[in-house]
Amino acid sequence: MRAAPIPEISYDPNTDAGGSREALGLGHSAGKGLDVRHGTILTLEDINVSFDGFKALNNLNLYIGVGELRCIIGPNGAGKTTLMDVITGKTRPDSGSAYFGETLDLTRLSEVEIAQAGIGRKFQKPTVFEALSVFENLELALKTDKSVWASLRAKLSGAQKDRIDAVLSTIKLESSRHRPAGLLSHGQKQFLEIGMLLVQEPQLLLLDEPVAGMTDAETEFTAELFKSLARQHSLMVVEHDMGFVGSIADHVTVLHQGSVLAEGPLEQVQANERVIEVYLGR
Ligand SMILES: Nc1ncnc2c1ncn2[C@@H]1O[C@H](COP(=O)(O)OP(=O)(O)OP(=O)(O)O)[C@@H](O)[C@H]1O
Ligand SMILES: [Mg+2]
Repeated sequence: MRAAPIPEISYDPNTDAGGSREALGLGHSAGKGLDVRHGTILTLEDINVSFDGFKALNNLNLYIGVGELRCIIGPNGAGKTTLMDVITGKTRPDSGSAYFGETLDLTRLSEVEIAQAGIGRKFQKPTVFEALSVFENLELALKTDKSVWASLRAKLSGAQKDRIDAVLSTIKLESSRHRPAGLLSHGQKQFLEIGMLLVQEPQLLLLDEPVAGMTDAETEFTAELFKSLARQHSLMVVEHDMGFVGSIADHVTVLHQGSVLAEGPLEQVQANERVIEVYLGR
């Protein structure tokens, strides 16, 4: 029995270019063959992005290690979201190189190809299908090669069911599996959306301000969740909440005016005079 009526939604990932699921990075496969010989999952070098002459990213260099949990911090307008846009193919850099693993040139792949290669992205605002149940949302995220209708009709394999069950447990929504997603709290919707990325088994997860609007308990659970995902996955988390950043980050990168201002353990960057001046305040 389904808890909610299934709405008539026609969705074709090939033609709905701006569709939210595509933008979420819900690809078909997890890019298992990724070449990470040198231990680096993401390499960005000399990246420049300008908008009408304004340099949003300015000779940016960034390296993320396999299994690392990196936090990106910095003032409003520093270029944090633009950085994620470059990695996911939403924005093309004017110059510079961007590699996923050793050999996948992100500047030559489409957004869909990048998602399929194993990079999942979560935007700030949750974009779940509210009328569908929690389980159905995860089911759809798993079967992105079909329309919504075809996806819900197609039978799940045993392995796919197991994967959804495992993700439900990871995001602590087992007991809400049949609830319409629209009835979840804001925080639970965020967890569901993270789950929709996880069923795709991405190797690199990009999360933009994941704890904005969450309760303290939800923020704490998110910290635990991210720590448990690191190592198996690589994570890049943009967040302004320093308490949260301090509780999860391996290393922190401070962006300022489109460039890396400082990088290292949080205590170290917090003591950096320039960082205090431009971001943390005195
Ligand atoms: N599509 C666009 N067109 C024009 N300007 C843009 C575009 N996207 C971003 N910008 C500008 O580039 C700069 C960097 O924006 P970005 O959104 O990357 O900052 P951010 O670090 O994510 O900031 P916040 O902490 O407020 O989210 C800003 O000045 C922004 O106005
Ligand atoms: Mg932003």
